[in-house]
Amino acid sequence: MQTLLERNVVLLSIVTLITAAIGGLVQLVPLYTMESTIEKVDGMRPYSPLELAGRNIYVREGCYLCHSQMIRPFRDEVERYGHYSLAAESMYDHPFQWGSKRTGPDLARVGGKYSNDWHVAHLINPREVVPESIMPGYPFLAGRELSTKTIAADMQTLRVVGTPYTDDQIKNAEADMLAQANPNADGAEDTEARYPKAVIGNFDGDVSVLTEMDALVAYLQMMGTLVDTTSYKTNSDGR
Ligand code: HEC
Repeated sequence: MQTLLERNVVLLSIVTLITAAIGGLVQLVPLYTMESTIEKVDGMRPYSPLELAGRNIYVREGCYLCHSQMIRPFRDEVERYGHYSLAAESMYDHPFQWGSKRTGPDLARVGGKYSNDWHVAHLINPREVVPESIMPGYPFLAGRELSTKTIAADMQTLRVVGTPYTDDQIKNAEADMLAQANPNADGAEDTEARYPKAVIGNFDGDVSVLTEMDALVAYLQMMGTLVDTTSYKTNSDGR
């Protein structure tokens, strides 16, 4: 058999191909029998309309060019940024914002790290709060009214690619958007019920107009806060 294979190049190629194919199938087939390769975690939910709008602004302004959103499971990263990112934490990101460039720090767990006022001052002029910062300012966000017209359609589109927004959430998209940015609004409780852990706040300090600044800060304050990572064990070496 060995002599036969070694002297017949066509036969050798065919047998090599079959052998390699078996290896490939052993790796691939189990993946097709799984519904999802993402481990489910408690607390993860689709983004609220205001957070989603903020996320759209984040993408539009290209924040990902300088900021990643994925804490890697290495000791130095875990000590600096907190628990490493779980796959489920970006399961509703279309497109994901993991990033590959860190001119600025990772933002995956920036939620709750600073006050709303800090974020607003920082986004208007980063040098105001971090004198050595090289981040550009985005002062115009505070003066631009946030469009609420397309958010329901946006959520409907995300549903097509698998984000489980309910009919109720889509129907109330505009109302939830306004309620989340106004702590005195009547609908705030309903919004919180639809989006557990949603930070309700007067993000940019002015409740009279809903601005792009409100949305971006709402998004930043949510980042990394939905999943209770203390229930996930981290080894002492950070893995
Ligand atoms: C040119 C690169 C660059 C761009 C673009 C950029 N940043 Fe930054 N960012 C930085 C740098 C550098 C820092 C660290 C210094 C500082 O805090 O200002 C930073 C810091 C931050 C911080 C504080 C993080 C922390 O943990 O202290 C936040 C929040 C932030 N950026 C949000 C944004 C958002 C939102 C956008 C898009 C609207 C953005 N950045 C765009 C470079 C950038």
